[in-house]
Formats: sequence, structure tokens, C-alpha cells
Amino acid sequence: MKKKDLDDLINEVEQENRFFKNKAAFDSVRPPEHIVGRREQAKQLLQFLHASQNIIVPFVSVYGRSGSGKSTLVKFVCDNLTNISYCFVNLRNAKTIFGCANLILAELGKANLKSAQGLNFAMTQIAESIISRLNEQKKKIFVLVLDEFDMIFYDERNNPSDFVYKLVVLGESLKKKNYLMCIVGISNNVISEYALDDRVKSRIGNSEVFFPSYTQDEAFAILRTLAREAFTKPVDEDILQYCATLGSQEHGDARRVIDLLRVGAEIASSNREKLDKSHIDLASTRLQNDRIQDVLTKNSAHFSLVCGSIAYLTFVQNRDWISTSEIYDKYKAIIPSSLNPLTYRRISGILIDIKNTGLTHSKTRSSGRNGYGTQYKLLFPPEMIGVAIDKKWWQKVEELKNQENEDAGLNKDAKQLRKLLGEIRNL
Ligand SMILES: Nc1ncnc2c1ncn2[C@@H]1O[C@H](COP(=O)(O)OP(=O)(O)OP(=O)(O)O)[C@@H](O)[C@H]1O
Ligand SMILES: [Mg+2]
Repeated sequence: MKKKDLDDLINEVEQENRFFKNKAAFDSVRPPEHIVGRREQAKQLLQFLHASQNIIVPFVSVYGRSGSGKSTLVKFVCDNLTNISYCFVNLRNAKTIFGCANLILAELGKANLKSAQGLNFAMTQIAESIISRLNEQKKKIFVLVLDEFDMIFYDERNNPSDFVYKLVVLGESLKKKNYLMCIVGISNNVISEYALDDRVKSRIGNSEVFFPSYTQDEAFAILRTLAREAFTKPVDEDILQYCATLGSQEHGDARRVIDLLRVGAEIASSNREKLDKSHIDLASTRLQNDRIQDVLTKNSAHFSLVCGSIAYLTFVQNRDWISTSEIYDKYKAIIPSSLNPLTYRRISGILIDIKNTGLTHSKTRSSGRNGYGTQYKLLFPPEMIGVAIDKKWWQKVEELKNQENEDAGLNKDAKQLRKLLGEIRNL
């Protein structure tokens, strides 16, 4: 490549980016310049965190579905409360409870500990770091935000309830030294739905802030604010509306609607076309495919087989909700002979992992003749998942379904013929 070629490429990229005045507006790590709505939730958070007396609640459970603005708003409120010191820890990558303690220590600027040093020692280190931080900043209140807090409950080998207990006791020990601490746990479900001992439940109380999913109007308002900040020219409102509608079909997820607009604009820009709905449709397919590929390549063959089983049952039986036992049976039926099937318990764990990637939703309630248990629903078209796992296998699944439909059609024809013959005989 010569310098001239590089200049041409630079020119091309600049052309492609000409839509964008400020692409950083789409950066999900960076807090948005304007938070649309969410006054009610901000007020509730302030009521819990803005401690004017010598008292603060020990634990606040912030909950709601994906993309409802939980992380964004909590960060925004904490950033703007000048009397508190806070630390925001995302537990997503913690595989164990000890890993969570290390993530907290890392955010507090401390070196990681070895698990052999024990959780109690880690807690003492956390307490010391908090105190020295409060002293340095000449503050009295510490807010420990634990985002994706539900991760701790997937560490089945340890005791998640005991970890919460230790954190709350840590807060109580700080209080004896005249400091105040509040833990803010952010998760998709309210903390009381997770398995906690009674002694922990009674200590953490029930301070909760619920984030309902965005309505289409709210999603539209978020997009309109963002579009003004991000693009050089105004975007047609009906395109923003289209993103808001498409992205809120399952539930109003701000991240999804924002991604649709960003990727749609990137596609239009690189084709040098005016942004229209067809680009948003392409963006939707691309985002779904990218997501599926990303999830499948990062996980094991068993993970893919479980995804394949859900896709199979959804597609062949035209169903939404599938029970864990049905998925397990299908998994055992499609597993290649070169692999040993995992136990039911392990597959239940993988189903939770799949749900955490956003490929499925789950519900745990009575499911009629299938009894009680967790059921899963795909959030992506089954064809997309099947093809991503194995194109040839999915082709066979499609053939099987067509064959079954034909057979069902023939059976129906035969029934009708028999009925007609009967009627003729009765004449
Ligand atoms: N009210 C809002 N105004 C402006 N932007 C918002 C608003 N709510 C969410 N966003 C944007 O939507 C994206 C997703 O929001 P956020 O990460 O806070 O969701 P979340 O509820 O924490 O989701 P998850 O449960 O998946 O972690 C972010 O890019 C954020 O900037
Ligand atoms: Mg979040």
C-alpha cells in the first residue's frame, strides 16, 4: 500500500462518517448527556442515598429488565451527589464470589488476593480501603454499587447469601466507626427473589427502586435526544419512530433501539445513501446475527447444542415457551455420539447462562401438565440460531418440518374425503 492508497482510505472513512457529528454519543459506557425521564426513579434513589441524618439504608435493590436505564441512572445520581464517595463495580465477569470480592478491591485501587487468603480477609481489606478513601475525601458516606449483582447467585459452590451477609455486616462495622455505607445492588430481578437466608433478608430491609421497561414513546424520546447530539443533519422522525417500535417489540430496551439507529446509520453512510427504514431492517438482522455469533463462539459445544434444542422445539412445534425437561430431552437426542451428555443439573446451569446472554427469557411458574419449573422463550428467530450452529443440520430440520406439514395436510385431506363419502352414503 502506498501513502496515496491510505489517503484514499482515510477519505473513504471520512465520507462514511459524514453522517455523524459526534459518534461518541452512541458509546454505551459513556453516560448520556441528557437522561430522558426517570425522575421518579431518581427521586427514590435520592431518598435512599441522600442521607442528611446519621442514618442510611444498608441495601437498595435496583431492578428492571435489560436496557431500562438502571446502570446509567445510578451512575448519574452517584456522580452528582457531592456528599458521598462511591465505587461502581460491575460483577458481570466474576465467576465466583471470591472473584466479586477481588473486583470490588480492584475498583478500590487494591491488588487482587488469592482465594487461599479467604473471604474474611478480603472483607477486612475492603473495609480498610473504604475507610481510607472516605478519610482522603473527607466524607462520611460510602455507596458501594454492585452492578449485575445477580452474578453472585450463580456461584453454586459457595454461599451467595453469606456473601451478602458479610457485606451488610461490613456496613454495620463501619457504622460503629462513625461512617455510613449503603450497598446498591443492580439486577434484573428484585433482590428478595434470590435465595437469601432469613437473617440476611431481615438485615437488608426492602428498599427497592423498580425500572419499568420503556414505552415506545419513551424510547422515541431517548432516540430523538440522542439523534440531535450524534448526527450532522436531523433524522426523519418516522425513522426514529420505526427504530423505537422495532426495538421495543419484546420490551422497551433503550440499548437495543440505540444500536438499531447507530448500525442503520452506519450502513446508510457506507452505502452513501439517505437513512431509511430498509437500513434499520438490515441493522436489525445484522445486530441479531452478530449477537448470536458472538455468544456461540464464546461458549462450549454443549451450550450450542442447548441453544439448538430450544431453536428446534420453537421452530418445529411452533411454540414460544419450552420447559427445561423438554429442552434436556431434545439436547440428549441431538448430541453427537462423540460427546457425553451433561447432567440435567449442568444443563439447567447452561440455560441460565443462555438467558444471561440475552438469547432467551425465562419464567418460573406453573406450566399446566409440565408441572412447575423454569421455561424458556427464544428472543431471536430460531432459523438464525439454527443456521449459526450448523447450516446442514438446520436444513434437515426445515425439511422435517415441511414433511410434517405435508403429512398433516394429507391427513386432513383424507379426513375430509371420508366425511364426504359418509355424507354421500347417507343420501
Ligand atoms: N433515560 C435514558 N435517557 C438516555 N439514554 C438512556 C436512558 N436510559 C438508557 N439509556 C441508554 O441506553 C443504554 C442502556 O442503558 P443501561 O445500560 O443503563 O441499561 P440497564 O438497565 O443497566 O441494562 P442491563 O440490565 O442490560 O445492564 C445506555 O447506552 C444508556 O446510555
Ligand atoms: Mg446495566
